[in-house]
Amino acid sequence: MQREHWGSRVGFILAAAGSAVGLGNIWKFPYLVGAEGGGAFLIVYIAFLIAIGLCVMIAEISLGRQAQANPFRAFKRVGGTGWSVFGFLAVLTAFLILSFYSVVGGWTIAYVVKTITGGFAGYSGAEFESHFGALVSNAIEPIVYHAAFMALGVVIVINGISGGIEKASKIMMPLLFILLALLVVRSLTLEGAMAGVEYFLLPDWSHLDANMVAAALGQAFFTLSLGMGALITYGSYLGKKESVPNAALWVVGLDLLVAVLAGFLILPAVFAFNMDPGAGPGLTFITLPAIFAELPFGQFIQLCFFLLLFVAAITSAISLLQVVVAFICEEFKVSRQVTTIWVAFVIFLVGVPSSLALGVWGDVTLFELNIFDFLGYITDNYFLPLGAIATCLVAGWVGFEKFAADITNQGERPFVYLTVWKWMCRVVAPAAIAWVMIHSIFFS
Ligand code: PFF
Repeated sequence: MQREHWGSRVGFILAAAGSAVGLGNIWKFPYLVGAEGGGAFLIVYIAFLIAIGLCVMIAEISLGRQAQANPFRAFKRVGGTGWSVFGFLAVLTAFLILSFYSVVGGWTIAYVVKTITGGFAGYSGAEFESHFGALVSNAIEPIVYHAAFMALGVVIVINGISGGIEKASKIMMPLLFILLALLVVRSLTLEGAMAGVEYFLLPDWSHLDANMVAAALGQAFFTLSLGMGALITYGSYLGKKESVPNAALWVVGLDLLVAVLAGFLILPAVFAFNMDPGAGPGLTFITLPAIFAELPFGQFIQLCFFLLLFVAAITSAISLLQVVVAFICEEFKVSRQVTTIWVAFVIFLVGVPSSLALGVWGDVTLFELNIFDFLGYITDNYFLPLGAIATCLVAGWVGFEKFAADITNQGERPFVYLTVWKWMCRVVAPAAIAWVMIHSIFFS
């Protein structure tokens, strides 16, 4: 059977950018900047994004394109049978991450629904706080929204690559940029916004330490969707004529643009209202809605913001779902329709304990972490870095000749940084990732 392909280059870039741009950019990035020293973090983060993230992304997309197969088979075909373990690990990572990512995705739907139905009218800051606490710790409501979120993912992925994922990305990514632009303008025109802009852009180097560097590299990987097979899978539907480095540059650029815009949206608002930029995860679901509620047309602004979060989350979630679906379809020769429904259902079930972990199952712990945090911890600290290191080693050492041929389109499109890229993959990126892995496991 002929393998499906993206309908166009733009389609691929938007879908891959959709995967990259997610809750990581809008929810996590601004609070990391807030907690880790503003502009200093930003600079370190951008350096990693370009120096290491871009190289690993080129390697992942090319690995998928060469193999024209899911991550498991891609590692096997290009690296050799032993390496397929890492392909399988990538699929497992995507599976696990989606299980709790979808729980958070569900919250975004809950907030959209509640805003539309006017449920937040007249809420004070304290009420937003207790609402968030009550929502996530409820035993049923977040699970219903988690199911709804997965179901929406199914509706998109079941229609395939160009008819489902590409089409959805072509609608949702422009929408995301429009919403973001609107919100940034609103935030920057608040009185006192400039203090936030200054905080965001002026580096405070006293925060520069190993923790900050590790957080910046970890975030660079997560935000670019690296190490979990997403770009290997998306790359496997990319035509042979496209330029991989060029496409990767676009994806990194768009991802950075959204993170920076999210910074311009969130930090000025937080400063204008004298809130704490290091407030952590609650920044998005508590602090910001409380701020928007104070503004004229506050509910409309809230709606735009929660829609933005939802769009960012769903375009990332579908890439994770596609990783698992491609693996099952290809390895077990099952139809896409049946696979998509079953895979999503199982991921939904696996996500249920993560949701309950924030409420009734809060006392159930694994290595002193609740299930939600535990899954985040093992995927972030073990699975994701291992997958990324394996990709680098296959690209830089095991199959460099094949990668060089693919990246230059069999010599037709010379890639001037090929040697730099090779050494980044061989030594610099794996060493940096291994250091972060060791640092986060033992020292933080
Ligand atoms: N890059 C996404 C974000 O920043 O939220 C998260 C993610 C999506 C990670 C898809 C990995 C992935 F395969």
